[in-house]
Amino acid sequence: MSKPKIRKTGKGDAPYIYILIGKSIGGGDFLLPRRENEIRELIRKESFFVAVGEGNVVGCASLEEYEGVAELRSLAVEEKWRGRGLGENLIKRVAGLARKSYDTLYTFADESLVEYYKGQGFEDKGRFITEGRTLDINSGISRKLERYCLDCDRYKSGLCNEHLMHKQLS
Ligand SMILES: CC(C)(COP(=O)(O)OP(=O)(O)OC[C@H]1O[C@@H](n2cnc3c(N)ncnc32)[C@H](O)[C@@H]1OP(=O)(O)O)[C@@H](O)C(=O)NCCC(=O)NCCS
Repeated sequence: MSKPKIRKTGKGDAPYIYILIGKSIGGGDFLLPRRENEIRELIRKESFFVAVGEGNVVGCASLEEYEGVAELRSLAVEEKWRGRGLGENLIKRVAGLARKSYDTLYTFADESLVEYYKGQGFEDKGRFITEGRTLDINSGISRKLERYCLDCDRYKSGLCNEHLMHKQLS
């Protein structure tokens, strides 16, 4: 396998990112779904990065900004390309972009990935939702609940075990 490269995205990447995210939902993986038009919008804002190996999109990560919050979202690496530092390098690219405007980068991690993110310099703030209440970090983060959680089956069934994690950027 040749060494994969990380680069910013162009319009043509959207369907491949959509497929990659789709593969990382369910099974042992924990990504929230994304609509293709959401992906296109983040590409337009130059907020998506991809890892390209052997000519194919094999990894992705995005920076999402809302209410003064910078969030790392949609981090995924194709199974056969995992364990080669692509996740780490994608996080670095998103953190580098976020650093231009924010002190802190947030992410939401399934419990099984908390140790992974700690290895990438994130601190664990604990479970985001416990007994129906969200961690009260700041109002921007609480918007996450309104934007995404209310439609999510794991939230509705009380099975959400996402941790809020944050990384200091300055
Ligand atoms: C999480 C993910 C992006 C990591 O990608 P990756 O390219 O394999 O990551 P890296 O190569 O940077 O890091 C691999 C290292 O992390 C470790 N690691 C991987 N998953 C881990 C976990 N769940 N807990 C602790 N460490 C973990 C590996 O053992 C490896 O350690 P090593 O470098 O000492 O060998 C990838 O597993 C993935 O796409 N998962 C599915 C999508 C997903 O769940 N995304 C996160 C949403 S919160």
